[in-house]
Amino acid sequence: MLACGKSAMKGLLLLLFSSTIFLLQGVCDCPEKCFCHPSSNSVDCSSQGLAEIPPNLPPQTLILHLQNNQIHQLSALAFRSVPRLIILNLSNNSLSNLAPEAFKGLQDLQVLNLTQNSLLSLENRLFHALPQLRELDLSSNNISYLPASLGKPWENLTMLAVQQNQLQHLDRELLEFMPRVKQLLLKDNIWKCNCHLLGLKLWLEKFIYEGGITDGVICGSPDTWKGKNLLIIPHELYQPCALPSLDLGYSQNQQPNSAYGGEDTKLPENHNSGHHIPLECEAKPKPRPANLRHAMATVVITGVVCGIVCLMMLAAAIYGCTYAAITAQYHDGSLAQTSESGKTGGKEMLESSTA
Ligand SMILES: *[C@@H]1O[C@H](CO)[C@@H](O)[C@H](O)[C@H]1NC(C)=O
Ligand SMILES: *[C@@H]1O[C@H](CO)[C@@H](O)[C@H](O)[C@H]1NC(C)=O
Ligand SMILES: *[C@@H]1O[C@H](CO)[C@@H](O)[C@H](O)[C@H]1NC(C)=O
Ligand SMILES: *[C@@H]1O[C@H](CO)[C@@H](O)[C@H](O)[C@H]1NC(C)=O
Repeated sequence: MLACGKSAMKGLLLLLFSSTIFLLQGVCDCPEKCFCHPSSNSVDCSSQGLAEIPPNLPPQTLILHLQNNQIHQLSALAFRSVPRLIILNLSNNSLSNLAPEAFKGLQDLQVLNLTQNSLLSLENRLFHALPQLRELDLSSNNISYLPASLGKPWENLTMLAVQQNQLQHLDRELLEFMPRVKQLLLKDNIWKCNCHLLGLKLWLEKFIYEGGITDGVICGSPDTWKGKNLLIIPHELYQPCALPSLDLGYSQNQQPNSAYGGEDTKLPENHNSGHHIPLECEAKPKPRPANLRHAMATVVITGVVCGIVCLMMLAAAIYGCTYAAITAQYHDGSLAQTSESGKTGGKEMLESSTA
């Protein structure tokens, strides 16, 4: 501390450049239990048993390591003192509660790691103040639902990881908010492979076709599809959902299984008499690409076959006419005629017959 004071005094006395003073301040203001690296503007407070964000973080910090601590909540504007952060690592803490404005003010944040926490849900607006967010790691939590509005500002997101959570469903709307995403990690959830997940399946097919990276969606329910990869279940086995989407509040055993053509078709009387609402929802899907492709293929094949038949008929007609003309000329005794003029005659005959 004494050394720092001396350096600062010296700096002031010698009227050193302001950047030097900032540098020295960075060294001096390093919070207890943290290691500050002024050259890279990074602060490492990992594995220190911290229960909250340390005070006095150097304001110019760009990289903040807070992983492997016991931080259990973030209040609004928790990172107000470090507005220039680019990388924030909060993995392996005890976070269960994040204030809706916890990350507010982090205009430059690009990487946010929230893996290995105890998050159950996320506020709609939680990430709205992060316009530069590129990588968001939410894996290994207990998240059961991701609201579609979470993704409204995700124009710049290239990586989203939600493996090892409790997700049953992912809104296609949310996926549409990430036009630049290249990597989407989804495995080890309890995906419910019913008609609701058809949107995800169709989106993923396009995503993979365009070179996107994903780690697979393995169904957790219904029993018919348990353990199966969503991507290999044919579209044809999904019936359109009956009612507008009710994402929450239905239990697995109340789910109509008749939609999967499984062996549970005896169930419907329960659904009609039961006190719960029928839950299989979402508007009827748009014409399925598979069917469209099928129809297109049929049209093309029909066209090709018709074309071949027509050509064959035309060839036969020309041949027949030519032959008839030559024979007629031969019988007329005009043997001096060449086969070439015979052909012309045949063509004339054909033309007159088609006219
Ligand atoms: C998580 O952090 C704790 C300390 O809070 C540490 O003991 C443990 O090894 C860390 N786990 C991993 C996987 O890094
Ligand atoms: C965050 O901490 C974890 C655990 O120490 C580490 O694996 C990861 O690379 C760190 N960085 C980021 C950007 O998450
Ligand atoms: C986040 O931290 C975990 C370790 O806890 C690490 O495996 C993962 O790669 C990190 N994610 C990002 C985006 O750096
Ligand atoms: C994405 O990043 C660009 C510049 O890197 C920025 O201008 C734009 O506002 C960002 N997108 C959103 C939705 O904020």
